Amino acid sequence: MNLRRRSSLLLAATLVMSDVLLLPASEIPLDARRSGYDFMSRETRAMQDDDTSNPATLWVLDGEALWNAKAGTAQKSCADCHRDLSSMKGVAARYPAFDDKRGKAVDLESRINFCRIDHQQAPPLASESREMLALSAAIARQSRGEPIAPDESKMAATIDAGR
Ligand code: HEC
Repeated sequence: MNLRRRSSLLLAATLVMSDVLLLPASEIPLDARRSGYDFMSRETRAMQDDDTSNPATLWVLDGEALWNAKAGTAQKSCADCHRDLSSMKGVAARYPAFDDKRGKAVDLESRINFCRIDHQQAPPLASESREMLALSAAIARQSRGEPIAPDESKMAATIDAGR
């Protein structure tokens, strides 16, 4: 397994919180939910705790660069509208979220692509592409340590379908 691939798997396991998709929260009380971190070996925890040895840091840095890069026909960067990445604090922890405009539940990656299409006039990024993983990692990083708490009030139908 090459380093990129391995980093990507690790990243998926540790950072992309929005991928904990539509877990029926009513079945696991909030205070009983545990991060994957709690189940890691001591060595893996140590690696994740140290940003300089955590391979996910490379993705976050890539994501920061993409955040500031102008793209699409609009030639706008994410930062042009959202300012600093820290404006995304808490956002990833709220996803998946119900999108009123589209009338359906969307994950963070889809939400990023809506901005690509609607606001940057750029083609959507492929799921799991380097750019999508990097951007979502950089956004998820802003919610580090926050509990994942999507507002499920409008997502009952989606959650049922998921079951
Ligand atoms: C031209 C302005 C503009 C640009 C450029 C833009 N966005 Fe957005 N973004 C918005 C607006 C406005 C919203 C609110 C939803 C909507 O109206 O589309 C939003 C919403 C979001 C959300 C959801 C926030 C929440 O609280 O749920 C995320 C995540 C996001 N943008 C990420 C990005 C990323 C990543 C980029 C760059 C790839 C980007 N945006 C580029 C204007 C922009």
